[in-house]
Amino acid sequence: MNILLKIILLFGLLTMSVYAENTAAPVKAPTAKPSDSLNKDSACTKCHDENESKPILAIAQTAHGNKADSRTPSCQSCHGESEKHMSNKTVAPDVIFGLKKGAFSPNEAKDQNTACLTCHDKDQKRTHWQGGAHQVADVACTSCHVTHTAHDKVRDKQTQPEVCFTCHKDQRAQVKKFSHHPIGEGKVACADCHNPHGSAGPKMLVKNTVTETCYTCHAEKRGPLLWEHQPVTEDCTNCHTPHGSNITPLLKSRAPFLCQECHDGPHASRSPVAESAEGIQGGATSASANTTGRACMNCHSMVHGSNDPAGALLHR
Ligand code: HEC
Ligand code: HEC
Ligand code: HEC
Ligand code: HEC
Ligand code: HEC
Ligand code: HEC
Ligand code: HEC
Ligand code: HEC
Ligand code: HEC
Ligand code: HEC
Repeated sequence: MNILLKIILLFGLLTMSVYAENTAAPVKAPTAKPSDSLNKDSACTKCHDENESKPILAIAQTAHGNKADSRTPSCQSCHGESEKHMSNKTVAPDVIFGLKKGAFSPNEAKDQNTACLTCHDKDQKRTHWQGGAHQVADVACTSCHVTHTAHDKVRDKQTQPEVCFTCHKDQRAQVKKFSHHPIGEGKVACADCHNPHGSAGPKMLVKNTVTETCYTCHAEKRGPLLWEHQPVTEDCTNCHTPHGSNITPLLKSRAPFLCQECHDGPHASRSPVAESAEGIQGGATSASANTTGRACMNCHSMVHGSNDPAGALLHR
């Protein structure tokens, strides 16, 4: 018999036997052993159930509700044993999260964070939490994260900025400027460049330097090039602003002023007309070129560096 046919036949027999078993035997118990947390939760959920005004049980639809995983927290892993609260509801549970007062006052941010970090301090992305700007400023995990919800806004590219903007008003204004990274458009998120949990780099950037952070998406700007432009390899923010600017593309100021911040009029002592007649094919009318907005870039178009033998960031 043809081998393929054999396989098909065998498969058919197998499915038949499965059906037979299904109709004969009653529903089998799930093979995955439920974690302790399921049983423990009932101590709290007998009162905090679906009748709550807040969607407490929505936590079941999150990674914290994965009952097949033994690491999954119970109510008490986060809120504490709360023994007194269970017998006397006028006594607060051990840990109350959030910022606003509900039935009880929330615990201090650092105590709330300790409850989360008992499990999350070993995560690779949070090794720099201690000493990070948010930890130092006593920002709580729950200032950004909402736990009892299937949709945690801060982990969704589209809705993340609005969470950050509740505190960072300057950046809200910046990303609305004429030239900006498509952050409001939901294509680039704050967390593409920043690790809000802290990092080894400056300003909690995801990489160790600004330039390395920019290269994660603008890899074409990475060298090595024959003619490098020192400020480019040093720090992109020598010329660009990361969040937004009214000078396109994301520039801190307009050429020639942008260039003159560092170049003390390199052509001022010599005639740019003479330079151009010698150096540029077709002899650009540099006198007028210098008065236009692009000025220096009319000739030095390869401002990020080039492999052109002409050098001087020129391009032919
Ligand atoms: C005997 C019923 C009962 C049990 C058991 C119980 N609670 Fe409560 N809990 C209440 C009541 C009543 C309140 C007051 C306000 C309310 O209705 O949310 C409350 C309030 C809370 C709050 C604060 C809500 C807010 O608005 O600030 C938290 C958090 C909480 N309980 C967690 C727990 C946890 C965790 C457990 C299990 C360890 C638990 N509760 C067990 C009845 C109970
Ligand atoms: C992973 C940690 C964690 C676990 C597990 C957890 N909670 Fe919470 N709980 C929080 C945080 C954080 C808040 C603050 C509001 C939010 O982020 O949703 C909160 C808020 C609450 C509130 C107050 C609701 C409000 O918005 O004022 C109650 C009541 C509550 N939890 C009960 C429970 C019960 C019952 C369980 C178990 C089924 C449980 N929690 C499991 C972290 C947790
Ligand atoms: C008892 C341990 C434990 C505690 C306490 C705990 N978590 Fe978790 N958390 C987990 C586990 C386990 C996962 C799933 C991780 C995984 O899939 O790798 C998780 C996942 C998460 C995720 C990712 C969710 C996703 O969908 O991928 C976030 C965000 C999170 N936790 C935040 C918190 C916050 C905030 C607190 C404190 C309010 C907290 N956790 C407390 C164990 C815990
Ligand atoms: C300033 C806002 C902010 C604070 C404060 C914050 N987070 Fe996050 N968290 C985020 C963002 C944004 C993401 C999504 C990151 C991404 O997409 O790379 C995230 C993702 C996570 C994740 C899941 C994905 C991952 O990175 O592994 C966990 C777990 C988590 N946070 C835990 C915590 C804990 C624990 C704390 C408190 C110690 C905390 N977070 C404080 C903004 C915050
Ligand atoms: C394209 C990368 C990138 C994105 C996306 C980005 N940032 Fe930044 N951010 C930077 C760089 C680079 C710096 C440091 C240089 C500077 O301040 O100009 C910075 C600095 C900051 C600072 C510190 C400013 C200061 O003056 O110390 C804050 C706060 C900040 N960003 C918040 C945000 C928020 C909120 C978002 C999302 C709305 C965001 N960033 C998106 C790259 C980025
Ligand atoms: C609850 C308020 C709050 C929220 C929400 C918040 N931040 Fe911050 N952030 C702060 C405070 C406070 C500081 C420290 C003081 C400052 O630089 O303004 C800070 C500092 C920063 C810095 C500067 C880091 C440095 O080393 O100087 C960056 C970058 C930043 N936040 C990014 C973010 C991002 C991205 C988000 C959203 C995922 C976010 N923040 C959400 C309060 C917040
Ligand atoms: C997460 C990816 C990502 C990172 C990281 C990133 N960029 Fe961008 N950048 C983009 C996208 C997407 C665009 C928009 C491209 C488009 O519209 O075609 C863009 C556009 C730009 C532009 C052109 C803006 C305009 O108005 O045309 C400049 C300049 C720029 N980025 C500089 C930087 C600098 C400087 C950094 C580092 C601080 C950086 N980028 C980091 C994704 C990124
Ligand atoms: C010396 C100033 C300067 C530095 C430093 C600089 N740029 Fe630029 N960048 C410019 C100018 C000027 C333009 C506009 C060029 C034009 O109009 O021809 C530009 C344009 C861009 C653009 C949009 C057009 C294109 O070429 O793709 C991106 C993206 C960009 N730069 C990324 C970066 C990155 C990433 C870095 C750091 C590695 C960086 N720049 C460093 C001056 C600079
Ligand atoms: C008309 C074309 C043209 C314009 C406009 C122009 N340059 Fe040049 N530039 C040149 C040429 C050609 C060289 C190369 C000379 C050589 O290789 O000997 C040069 C060389 C340079 C050098 C190398 C050092 C030096 O002095 O030889 C610097 C720096 C420089 N230009 C900066 C600028 C700045 C800043 C502007 C705007 C204010 C500008 N250039 C405008 C054509 C131009
Ligand atoms: C943050 C300072 C800074 C800014 C801003 C800056 N440059 Fe430069 N530039 C330098 C340094 C440093 C060198 C290397 C000088 C040297 O080798 O003597 C350089 C070198 C050059 C050279 C000579 C390269 C070669 O091949 O010899 C040119 C041309 C040049 N820059 C053009 C520009 C133009 C055009 C702008 C504006 C778009 C600009 N620079 C903005 C710092 C800057």
